[in-house]
Amino acid sequence: MQDVLADRPFVDLGRWPTPLEPVDGTWIKRDDLSGLGLGGNKLRKLEFLLGAAAAAGQDTVVTTGALQSNHARLTAAACARLGLACHLVLVATVPRSDQHYRESGNVLLDDLFGATVHVVPDHATAERELEHLRRQHGDRLCSIPLGGSDRVGALGYVAGALELAAQLDAQAPHVRRVVVATSSGGTVAGLVTGLAAAGWAGEVHGIAVMEDVAAATARVERLVSELGDDLGVSVDRTAWTVHAGLGPGYGVTDPASLDAIRRLAAASGILLDPVYTAKAYAHLDEAGPRTETVFLHTGGVPALFAYQPDLVADPTTEGD
Ligand SMILES: Cc1ncc(COP(=O)(O)O)c(C=O)c1O
Repeated sequence: MQDVLADRPFVDLGRWPTPLEPVDGTWIKRDDLSGLGLGGNKLRKLEFLLGAAAAAGQDTVVTTGALQSNHARLTAAACARLGLACHLVLVATVPRSDQHYRESGNVLLDDLFGATVHVVPDHATAERELEHLRRQHGDRLCSIPLGGSDRVGALGYVAGALELAAQLDAQAPHVRRVVVATSSGGTVAGLVTGLAAAGWAGEVHGIAVMEDVAAATARVERLVSELGDDLGVSVDRTAWTVHAGLGPGYGVTDPASLDAIRRLAAASGILLDPVYTAKAYAHLDEAGPRTETVFLHTGGVPALFAYQPDLVADPTTEGD
């Protein structure tokens, strides 16, 4: 089964396999516990992205994302582990200006991991900054796209899917679907490709938290087709679907997702994050009966501290 990934450059960053646990009437695959840098889904992608960088002799890494990007934080942690220089071009697009959002959570950790952080106001300025870094570092620069979602990064979730399929076979053979937050698309694309390679017959339901369903679906479709060509795996189009989960906007909380954070924390001691996993978990039951579902916990927990003001206020009393 692992043959599908044979000979791909790779560096070891996470602690695998992550646990598969019965929690809250469902199953949770704990990729939030992947280890390095407080963990999360991006470590799986970075193992292949930075493996390719090492194979190319690159010593400097740049990536981009929102100010509270988990992908940026884990890129910084992985670079610290591997002795690579790291630049983060962080775009202040989420409509928040409070001190927690600007300075705590992932931003605090980026700094501790020694990354050089470039905060820019919009995507056009980010593109200019990236171009400047490319000119400065030339071939020594590894430029990682938003969320690590290209055909190399998505291999991480092909590997993650092979791991999950083996656990489901052993622990929860009745599970029929995976529910997971989707934004840059590499996690869902890698999962559906890896699950197809493993011969697992269930479905993947992505909950779109960054944009509308059409845009999120198009991202996943493109990556599934690239990965399929690359790996020689064909994916049945009915094996995956994308649901709406954006709510009031990317990085903007709503009562349902804040409630999901509070309820799961109090019921199980497991923390969801306010931008991705809480929005996905709030839609869990729309995908089907939770007893037959595995929720892929993709991490993001450090962002809880950046969203402290939202969590302190009780949404049920808002407007009273
Ligand atoms: C915690 C968390 N969950 C889910 C995702 C979505 O993964 P993808 O970008 O591969 O769609 C991200 C992406 O940043 C994330 O940080």
